[in-house]
Amino acid sequence: MNVNLENQVDTKIIDEIMSKHKGRPGELLTVMEEVQEANDYKYLDEASMGYISSKSKVPLSQIYSVATFYSFFNLKPQGKHTIIVCRGTACHTKGSKILLDDLTTLPGCKDAFDAGETSFTTDDKLITIKTVACFGQCALAPVVAVDGVIYSNVTSEQIKKLLENLQEENKDENIRLS
Ligand code: FES
Repeated sequence: MNVNLENQVDTKIIDEIMSKHKGRPGELLTVMEEVQEANDYKYLDEASMGYISSKSKVPLSQIYSVATFYSFFNLKPQGKHTIIVCRGTACHTKGSKILLDDLTTLPGCKDAFDAGETSFTTDDKLITIKTVACFGQCALAPVVAVDGVIYSNVTSEQIKKLLENLQEENKDENIRLS
């Protein structure tokens, strides 16, 4: 997969999004959400945030504050698939660290998490690994979300199988834990 790190959202698309929500409650948040969704790598690139700022007259610093406050905004390119491991107490007690260790076998991932990152995306932009403090589903620990689907009582074997499946030829198709 070729990855264009200059990837930005077309300003015409941003214009359309901004005019659709102009004057509505929560305008800035909605615009930012839709611009992120319009980005091929599901993140708010700097150029797009700068454009939103200049068009809306909202200071760029305020846009950054919003983007960093809400966890659903991404400031870095995201992978095609996202795997989120819960690192809350209940999940930790039930072995979520082992699941994260399985995932951090991906090249470069362990170093990123050891350096304090809570998100890592593979160079080919296929997989993003993230951690969360708690999904609020502690009775189902350990909990992992794969492409937005929550899985309970996840095992190391399931995670290893998932990574294997992703490395097979049809890795662009939907993935799930089995
Ligand atoms: S600690 Fe994992 S869901 Fe709450």
